[in-house]
Amino acid sequence: MIWTKDSLKLLVKEKLEDYLFIAVSHREPYLHHNDKGKIFCRRTTGGVVTALDSVMRACGGIWMAYASGSADFQVVSPEGFVQVPKDSSDAYLLKRIFLSKEEIEGYYLGYANSALWPLCHTAFKRPEFVQKHWEVYQSVNQKFAKEIISQIGDRKAFIWIQDYHFSLLPKYLREMAQSQIFIAQFWHIPWPSYETFRICPQKLELLQGLLSNDLLGFNIQYHCNNFFDVVNREVECKVNLETYSVMYGGHETHVRSYPVSIDFEEIQKTAGNPEQESKKNDLVEQFGLAGQKIVFGLDRIDYTKGIPERLLAIDRFFEKFPEFKEKVVFLQVGVVSRIHLKEYKMLNEELNILVEQINWRHSTGQWKPVVLVRRELSYQEVLSFCRLADICLVSSLHDGMNLVGKEFIAASRPDKGMLVLSQFTGAARELPDAILINPYDREQFSDGIFQALTMPESERRERMKRLQSVLSENNVYQWAGKVITEMLTIDYKKQGLSP
Ligand code: F6P
Repeated sequence: MIWTKDSLKLLVKEKLEDYLFIAVSHREPYLHHNDKGKIFCRRTTGGVVTALDSVMRACGGIWMAYASGSADFQVVSPEGFVQVPKDSSDAYLLKRIFLSKEEIEGYYLGYANSALWPLCHTAFKRPEFVQKHWEVYQSVNQKFAKEIISQIGDRKAFIWIQDYHFSLLPKYLREMAQSQIFIAQFWHIPWPSYETFRICPQKLELLQGLLSNDLLGFNIQYHCNNFFDVVNREVECKVNLETYSVMYGGHETHVRSYPVSIDFEEIQKTAGNPEQESKKNDLVEQFGLAGQKIVFGLDRIDYTKGIPERLLAIDRFFEKFPEFKEKVVFLQVGVVSRIHLKEYKMLNEELNILVEQINWRHSTGQWKPVVLVRRELSYQEVLSFCRLADICLVSSLHDGMNLVGKEFIAASRPDKGMLVLSQFTGAARELPDAILINPYDREQFSDGIFQALTMPESERRERMKRLQSVLSENNVYQWAGKVITEMLTIDYKKQGLSP
């Protein structure tokens, strides 16, 4: 069965009508900001938002998240609610949670992104475990738990938590709940091996938190297996590999893999419409790309994304294949992220240095091999860039999934497009027809770029057709549909009912 927006809507309408459906994430899907005295709304970036916004537009319900825009406060109701997207027929309720600077420093920049992010990504950045960050992480998790509980009252509810910002939330919810709640959590980033995880001073509390879920999802089976291995060694529990669940303190947590994805059909439709097509000519002019083959990268500027490795592979590519000079440009779009952390500041500096060096080494006359654009992109711009590019490079050192490569496959034109994809992304498991590379191996990576640029047209088309067919089935509605179906099955079982 192919899941669509309509089949997901139907599932929710038929089976979830008795439940209040609440999704929780750190990043809000839309923020409001002031510009020259006016208020503007824009969609935020990141995998969680890309996936969950499509799902919420199909399911409805409440999405609870941190208020990050400068004008967020001005547009919400006294209770913190705003309907998003505005004036849309499939709008849903966003409940904004306001956090202080101290809370953001301790919980988001601190424990979530200086301890858990490097710990889970194994990208050779040493995690920093700071007691104060941990305390604030706990208190922000408590704050979200109280807000959720106050929404539920005595109703039945499905709570779907997103990501590593909320490892403790399931436990707090269970302790506070008066009514019957079902808790699922999706961990979008990798789950590390036991060797890596065991250094974490708060490992027991984190595991107790996650083992309070009824259902815990990861992108790939490998991360589920790592999780089973970790709990087996760290807590007194019973791992059942037949039911794929963990029994701990009398509570059963089911653990499953569901590859997060994109709204394939919608992206393909929007990217291909003539108005969208015309926007790409503006980009060609703006960045002086006329007559060039375009190799493209789009990422949050994050040390897990392998952007320096990508630049070094481009450098090696022009060294080995100088005949491509003046014919190929590498366009890297980078969205500045978590910039208050020193690793992210240093990475931005490193990128400036590398781009300058590579351009100095290979440029001729007016031609430069690398264009680095540092700014937020609208959804339409992302699609225009994907449409424009001949090749997309995704070179994450470690990534739970990576939706950029998937968006590229959905948006690209029939007459161009090939994906060069890191073997260390979750997406690599589903997309074997991409050119898979090891970003640490500069020779292989630069050869992969060469292969993508010189592949016979018939082979390129065949591979892209297979990649598109995988994603038209493994779309975001399948992801959400499978999670919600599993939630219902487990919940019925808990209540002794048949589904
Ligand atoms: O999945 C990884 C993740 O942290 C998501 O939670 C988020 O959507 C994305 O990366 C962007 O990160 P941030 O919310 O810190 O800007």
